[in-house]
Amino acid sequence: MVELTLPRGSQPTKGKTWPKPDGARNVRTFRVYRYDPESGNPPSWDTYKVDLDDCGPMVLDAILWIKNNVDATLAFRRSCREGVCGSCSMNIGGRNTIACTSGIDEYDGTITISPLPHQPVVRDLVPDLTQFYAQHAAIKPYLQTDTPAPEKEWKQSPEERAELDGAYECIMCASCSTACPSYWWNGDKYLGPAALLQSYRWLADSRDEAKGERLDELDDPFKLYRCHTIMNCAQVCPKGLNPAEAIGKIKGMLVERES
Ligand code: SF4
Ligand code: FES
Repeated sequence: MVELTLPRGSQPTKGKTWPKPDGARNVRTFRVYRYDPESGNPPSWDTYKVDLDDCGPMVLDAILWIKNNVDATLAFRRSCREGVCGSCSMNIGGRNTIACTSGIDEYDGTITISPLPHQPVVRDLVPDLTQFYAQHAAIKPYLQTDTPAPEKEWKQSPEERAELDGAYECIMCASCSTACPSYWWNGDKYLGPAALLQSYRWLADSRDEAKGERLDELDDPFKLYRCHTIMNCAQVCPKGLNPAEAIGKIKGMLVERES
């Protein structure tokens, strides 16, 4: 797996080391990336000692513990705490994932936490995902039809519905796209694994009637073909999805259309 790097332009300094909590016997050390672009100060690595006897089992629990007990200025995103909203994605121990389903006991020693790599930082662990969401919107992630809408519902057979397994479960956490070297170098033109997996999800939908237009949009040297099957996307996806496989299927659809 290609080693992940920190957000663009950051050269973190050694930051503040917070003391061990009073009376704590079961302590774990967390090294956390801190950065406020508006402060004029460089990023830093701050070190926190978390009392595991007073904290839940997940990395997100530890981050919340730090915010509630040590340093209220720490910024991060989270919502569901159940692995379904995708908002708590970050780089933990050198690997992109979501913090709410990552157990503290899955990591050895000091746990290093930084924002998703190669994205501008809004603050601390919060990346700016404006481009990522714009790319998702660009693939038109909704049903497109010419046929007049049926009185009740668009129907699918169980087999047609099964074609969407492995594609519809994406929680848009951006772990995959921001783990992809092709996306790091050409993220403004390459759609990236997450948007392409969602594009495939609609290409594979038996009810959708815009397959030709969707493929026309993707038939571009950068949007699709910058995938070089590096496979970081499939390695990091916290939902066990395989965007690279979906991208391969899109390429197959384009070949089939040409022949
Ligand atoms: S494919 Fe997986 S890693 Fe990529 S955005 Fe979806 S859930 Fe996250
Ligand atoms: S808080 Fe929703 S996925 Fe982690």
